[in-house]
Amino acid sequence: MLKLFGALVLFGLAVACITSWVLDSYDTAWHPKRSVRHPTAGDGDESRGKSPPFPGDELANIFWFIQVSDIHISRFHDPRRIPDFEKFCTDTIEVIKPDLVLATGDLTDAKTESKVGSLQHEVEWQAYHNILKRSRVMERTRWIDIRGNHDAFNIMSLDSINNYYRKYSANQKVGSFHYVHQTPFGNYSFVCADATLTPGPKRPYNFFGILNQVQLL
Ligand SMILES: *[C@@H]1O[C@H](CO)[C@@H](O)[C@H](O)[C@H]1NC(C)=O
Ligand SMILES: [Zn+2]
Repeated sequence: MLKLFGALVLFGLAVACITSWVLDSYDTAWHPKRSVRHPTAGDGDESRGKSPPFPGDELANIFWFIQVSDIHISRFHDPRRIPDFEKFCTDTIEVIKPDLVLATGDLTDAKTESKVGSLQHEVEWQAYHNILKRSRVMERTRWIDIRGNHDAFNIMSLDSINNYYRKYSANQKVGSFHYVHQTPFGNYSFVCADATLTPGPKRPYNFFGILNQVQLL
């Protein structure tokens, strides 16, 4: 009886060994057409991350960024947006650690209390600006913000006093621009196209954008 028990234990151990070996070597990613060897595989650590620039099994040849859109900080509507945005700038950015953040408008809501009309409210822009400052997010990542149509409601000209983007945004320079993100494995261009209208009409006549021939060059 003891012998039989011992044999069973040995058999069980053997099965466990084989199972673990099979699970270890079983690769769901394997495919005949995909089994091309990495050009630098086996060449040692110093050659990893060299051309061509594609990600592998380590943190090389890769970076990430976040795009957030339509933050719509509002004086009248949904007050949670302000603390939520602040939490994003502190906690979320700290976890994701993006190289850059693209905050593509609408940064502010710019509506009247009735939600029918539109108006640039300095307090909405100040709330946006204060969160950027207080969270120090601009020291931890590259913050790129551009305007949306709400950020251009009721703005007669780009140097109007109520064009608060010039004063309270991270970027502050109006119009389209080009940002080049430099990494050891290549330069990556971000083309930020601001197609908002000038002058910026009120609601509800401002729901399209234009890029003229000059801006397209
Ligand atoms: C990136 O741009 C910089 C500045 O123009 C240049 O010196 C550098 O060689 C470029 N890097 C790559 C990998 O192309
Ligand atoms: Zn919007």
